Amino acid sequence: MRIGILTSGGDCPGINATIRGICKTAIHHYQMEVVGIHNGFQGLITDETALITEESLSGLLGMGGTILGTSRENPFQKDDLMPGTDKPTLISKNIKKMGLDCLVCIGGNSTMATAAKMMEIGINTVTIPKTIDNDVWGTDYSFGFDSAVSIATEAIDRLHSTANSHRRVMVIEVMGHKAGWLALYSGLAGGGDIILLPEIPYDIHKIGNYIIDRFKKGKPYSIVVVGEGIKTKDRKRAATYIAEEIEYETGVETRETVLGYIQRGGSPTSFDRNLATMMGGHAAELIASGKFGRMVAVRGNRMLSVSLDEVAGKVKLVSPNNDYVKQGLRLGVCFG
Ligand code: F6P
Repeated sequence: MRIGILTSGGDCPGINATIRGICKTAIHHYQMEVVGIHNGFQGLITDETALITEESLSGLLGMGGTILGTSRENPFQKDDLMPGTDKPTLISKNIKKMGLDCLVCIGGNSTMATAAKMMEIGINTVTIPKTIDNDVWGTDYSFGFDSAVSIATEAIDRLHSTANSHRRVMVIEVMGHKAGWLALYSGLAGGGDIILLPEIPYDIHKIGNYIIDRFKKGKPYSIVVVGEGIKTKDRKRAATYIAEEIEYETGVETRETVLGYIQRGGSPTSFDRNLATMMGGHAAELIASGKFGRMVAVRGNRMLSVSLDEVAGKVKLVSPNNDYVKQGLRLGVCFG
């Protein structure tokens, strides 16, 4: 068999580890040929590919980013820059020309939806979920998430001492445009006093009173962890809005930090390396047994797969009844 691999959407730690995982399994164990497609679905349109050999797989396990490059190209969306091009037909032709029996798409929610459409136009597809947001439906974890939680936790840890020295409120914004997994997990791990998630509505007066209460109890500072996707007035940046409002409500000096792309860069944790490796291996197994139209997933400690039709169009959100939220509440954390 000859398979093609592409990476699409925002990058995250662990993509190269999963490329290594799938390619090594495919080449070594299943004697397949693997073609790397550059820059996501764009590479299928422009026909930019390179054969992946075992030699090209060295040093990938701990390497950040994606060696294949990525883009947010969605060939099923209207494109004003290429008005006369029927991208899906062009892609089908190119895939035939490349001689691919299956396309492996490594990506987040949008990639899953695009991959489901690829199946509809007759292209055998298998996907692997990757995102620091951990919001892909059908899997407990996506690789990249654990690494981002570690990076954000370290950043929150570092805010404690400076907040304490200056007796300030520190607001830190972490990524997660729809889901608050990263804010929840890093907020809890970093000892955040207030954690705001896109899924849980907040009341700024309640937050203000909570901070004033903390000061009254002799707590000299407060740490506020906010997910970037929380609702704000005039669509202001989450950290800026919350910091301004807290200062207004409490009169306490408040500073903001936006962690940004640091969360997505660099080397994956060992958990993510192993998850990526296992997912890559499982993807190769699915292809070898002719199970297409499926996304690799992990539930508990088990690798399995879910139908792409089931995944497409869904987002995995944090429920207010989530155990981490419940435990946070029992610790006295304010969720707004
Ligand atoms: O990959 C998901 C994510 O990290 C979101 O949390 C964030 O909003 C988005 O990517 C930003 O990515 P970009 O600026 O690359 O589009």
